[in-house]
Amino acid sequence: MASTAINVNGQEYAVPVDAADESIKLLWVLRHDLGLTGTKFGCGLAECGACTVLLDGAPIRACITPLAMAVGKKVTTIEGIAPSADELHPVQQAWVEVGVPQCGYCQSGQIMEAVALLDKNPSPSDDEIREGMAGHLCRCGTYTRIFTAVQLAATMKKG
Ligand code: FES
Repeated sequence: MASTAINVNGQEYAVPVDAADESIKLLWVLRHDLGLTGTKFGCGLAECGACTVLLDGAPIRACITPLAMAVGKKVTTIEGIAPSADELHPVQQAWVEVGVPQCGYCQSGQIMEAVALLDKNPSPSDDEIREGMAGHLCRCGTYTRIFTAVQLAATMKKG
């Protein structure tokens, strides 16, 4: 049986699928084969951002990313950003302090985008935050709280 090796959240996995099959998208391997259900399926068309994970630190839409693109790279999901079981990532901490989520469905994708944004640019301007987070849809309209939480996370990361 075909098997594909991938690295997710610092762990090596062999998943029972063939990466040569381009119809197999990373999102479904994460959710179904690895049980990492924190990454959500929204539109399936790379338009909503719910499925965002990091590939070698860069945010990607896992719903349209063939598994083959993740081979040999480091995949990071929402389950892999906290430094330990007892400690949240600063972006997660800021999300809690601001009380960002309403229904919560889009939030793991939003958080992953914010993590990548602050890794690349630790002191983003207001416009850079708005631009960086612009590709993510939230049907509850939590955009103002997301903006505030990214600002707070930037200060927490520095502190
Ligand atoms: Fe991937 Fe919407 S589910 S962008």
